[in-house]
Amino acid sequence: MTGLLIRDLAQVATPGANGGPLRGAGLRDVRVIENAFVLCRDGRVEAVGPMADLPPNTGGLREIDGRGLSAIPGLVDCHTHACFGGDRVNEFSLRAAGASYEQLHSAGGGILSTVHATRTAGEEELTRITARHRAWMRAHGTTTFEGKSGYGLDRDTELAQLRAIRAAGGIPTWLGAHTVPPEFDDADVYLDFLLTEVLEDASNLAEAADVFLERGSFDARQARRYLEACRDAGLALRLHGDQFTESGAIALAIDLGARSVDHLEATGSAGVELLAASDVAGVLLPASALFLGRPMPPGRDLADAGALIALATDFNPGSAFCDSLPLVLSLACTQMKLAPEETLVAATANAAHVLGRADRIGRLRPGFAADVVLLDATDWRHVAYHLAGDIVHTVIEGGIVAFRRTA
Ligand code: NIG
Ligand code: FE
Repeated sequence: MTGLLIRDLAQVATPGANGGPLRGAGLRDVRVIENAFVLCRDGRVEAVGPMADLPPNTGGLREIDGRGLSAIPGLVDCHTHACFGGDRVNEFSLRAAGASYEQLHSAGGGILSTVHATRTAGEEELTRITARHRAWMRAHGTTTFEGKSGYGLDRDTELAQLRAIRAAGGIPTWLGAHTVPPEFDDADVYLDFLLTEVLEDASNLAEAADVFLERGSFDARQARRYLEACRDAGLALRLHGDQFTESGAIALAIDLGARSVDHLEATGSAGVELLAASDVAGVLLPASALFLGRPMPPGRDLADAGALIALATDFNPGSAFCDSLPLVLSLACTQMKLAPEETLVAATANAAHVLGRADRIGRLRPGFAADVVLLDATDWRHVAYHLAGDIVHTVIEGGIVAFRRTA
């Protein structure tokens, strides 16, 4: 039996309610306990409360001295492209000199240059790279991450990506319909290939399917065709939608009962109302908007309209070379005017919901995974307040210390 007692914490902050996503007024429902403990046993949280209520049977457990620190649940990054070969630093320079992301994409660079590097890498190297990226994310407090394929776009590399993500501890999403690879000149013919040659094996490796619904990649009819087949194969559904243009992604996501529609930088007020009236989560990726110099998604409007929102990094080599959820929380507060409480819920309980795990992770409450982040601050809101700060002190995964900042 393994046990861990984190004691004398200045604060513990956790989303309220028992499980499930929070929205509307509930999006601010963060329970804060001062002078608190977190007791973990066998990989799960056993009890959380004020030190005055510390159970008597804790003698002999491994202890962490939480004085001067605050605790939040392990952060959940529900949208990453963390498995890729190479980098896009040359394009970063070109963009700094004025080229746009969409121009680079239509000139055969962008996603396709990462496809080339990913095909060349091989599965072992992809696993090593993804594990390295996981370590970067963990050092910023991420204890659960989703990772998408989509840089293979051929059968072997797509499946290798899904296995590499799983081997590195991630939750794989099949993004076969990311863009059309160079050996196909017709999107429908490429979809024929995906659905007849790859879907069956991909559906055994991935939990969800995703599509890039955007000019230059797939239109709404093609996205529907791909997603319906994936749903029939048992996958949960996600969409990249409204990143550059409003192309019907929200209506399609609702119609298909998708878990989420992600990006939404181009979403207008009608889209906000439509999404808010549904159970589809809007996953906001402000680091991607920042990295591309694009408008922020309408996070405040979505929250006020009662939409179910989550926050994620979108970590990828082209549109968001960013592995830090605390930075995303900072951007959400400063650029979208979300409250720190709303950002914590969006990157824990609600992100867990997007991954189908809101009953197990994203909260510090009995029975949930003992995934805990200790922040080097007595007020937990420093996780968003300290812009790009070295705020993460210790990361605990399943009751075991997985990362500790060196002094
Ligand atoms: O979420 N927009 C499409 N896909 C990714 C970027 C992929 C890339 O540029 O490599 C995104 O932004
Ligand atoms: Fe993405």
